Amino acid sequence: MDYRVPRGTQDILPPASGRWQRAEGVARELLERFGYSEIRTPVFEMKELFLRTVGEETDIVQKEMYTFSDRKGRQFALRPEGTAPVIRSYVENSLWKDHPLLKLFYMGPMFRYDRPQRGRYRQFHQIGAEAVGSLNPAVDAEVISMVAMILRAAGIERVTVKLNSLGEAESRERYTRALQSYFGAVRSRLCGDCDKRLERNPLRVLDCKVPACRELAADIPPMEDYLSTKSGEHYEQVQARLKRLGVKFEKDKHLVRGLDYYTRTTFEFHHGELGASVALGGGGRYDRLVREIGGPDTPAIGFSLGTERVLLAAERDRRDAAGDAPCDRSMIYLAWIGEKAGEAAFLLANALRRAVRVELELESRSIKAQFRQAGKLGAGYVIVLGERELAEGRVQLKDMTTGEQRDFSLSALADFITKEMVGYRNDKSPHGRIDRNLGGQLDEALASLQF
Ligand code: HAM
Repeated sequence: MDYRVPRGTQDILPPASGRWQRAEGVARELLERFGYSEIRTPVFEMKELFLRTVGEETDIVQKEMYTFSDRKGRQFALRPEGTAPVIRSYVENSLWKDHPLLKLFYMGPMFRYDRPQRGRYRQFHQIGAEAVGSLNPAVDAEVISMVAMILRAAGIERVTVKLNSLGEAESRERYTRALQSYFGAVRSRLCGDCDKRLERNPLRVLDCKVPACRELAADIPPMEDYLSTKSGEHYEQVQARLKRLGVKFEKDKHLVRGLDYYTRTTFEFHHGELGASVALGGGGRYDRLVREIGGPDTPAIGFSLGTERVLLAAERDRRDAAGDAPCDRSMIYLAWIGEKAGEAAFLLANALRRAVRVELELESRSIKAQFRQAGKLGAGYVIVLGERELAEGRVQLKDMTTGEQRDFSLSALADFITKEMVGYRNDKSPHGRIDRNLGGQLDEALASLQF
């Protein structure tokens, strides 16, 4: 029997899982600052949802979906992306009623039957967001600059932003005809798939990976020449706002993206080390999608980043914002000497965990071995509890960064922890919420300890 992890999937083990948490943490923090709230949707949906939205001609639908039917014969798909599920939920729950502009973000696994390689997996993760309800080009620029900010905060420096506009329905129709006549002249040199795409969805030819098709696509007329006045102005305004925000970008006439729902603005984020076909993330406007799924006519825009790729790029750029923390100043290693002190330490650890992370010695090793273990775990402080401390109701606390050692009564220890250690954490973190009235709680817990 071979019980290995399925091809194209991976276990995320510590300490890498810590890097995941930090990358997702900075993204969450920034998304919230921009007014986005989290939405969680199921990991599977009706298969039809993706056929209708991502598009029947796309690689995702044609080759990459994990589909299955349940016991009643209903057809489902593991979600290959997050936008269609979010919009499905937006329509199902009539979310427009309370929010003229609704900003939602999500993080979680997506599934595509892709050929696995570095940065390409069958189960991968996205950090994404959707702003539903506005056609204002300011929102496009805000979304793009927000993604740039998230990448910088995750420790990535060398990012290229690619930008294009696909126009609204009318402009796209004109461009589609232009592409049909351009590729029609060289039709015999297109691959079999593109030959079919040319009739049904010529924009998909620009997305084809076959070298002959890519070569033919190199000289296509730019979409920009076919934009209506309204779409052209929209595109201009997005660019002007990005410039004012100081976000550098390159225009790319081939940027059609691998999903059919896009209208007007499309964009992608790239990193030199990952290669041109492996984008860090991408997104764009999809002004018709809400209507197509049965909601009111509502413009929208969004993006998704591939979390695995963000972490790969951060590692390359060697900034330690998303790297391993050297020493955790909100963590205590509780060392002890002697059986009675061990019993007391067990209770003390439990009390202190109301406020901070505590690692407790369990093996009654030598004090030297215990300090070594504390160093290995990266504890910011070590508390030592021995027979003498026990008798006096006091503890020794060593600051592992400065080497300074101090003697505390239990109530002074409670005071030190609430003022000095907990302060290292963000008040808005989930821990911060547990820690409300921490001083009182800790005092009470320590006072009830009978050494
Ligand atoms: P997408 O370009 O298909 O767009 O995927 C977004 C990102 O997901 C990619 O840039 C990449 O980082 C990551 N990704 C995609 N496939 C894989 C894979 N097989 N392995 C690892 N990472 C992968 C979307 O999914 C749209 N929903 C984005 C969007 C949101 N547009 C509007 N709103």
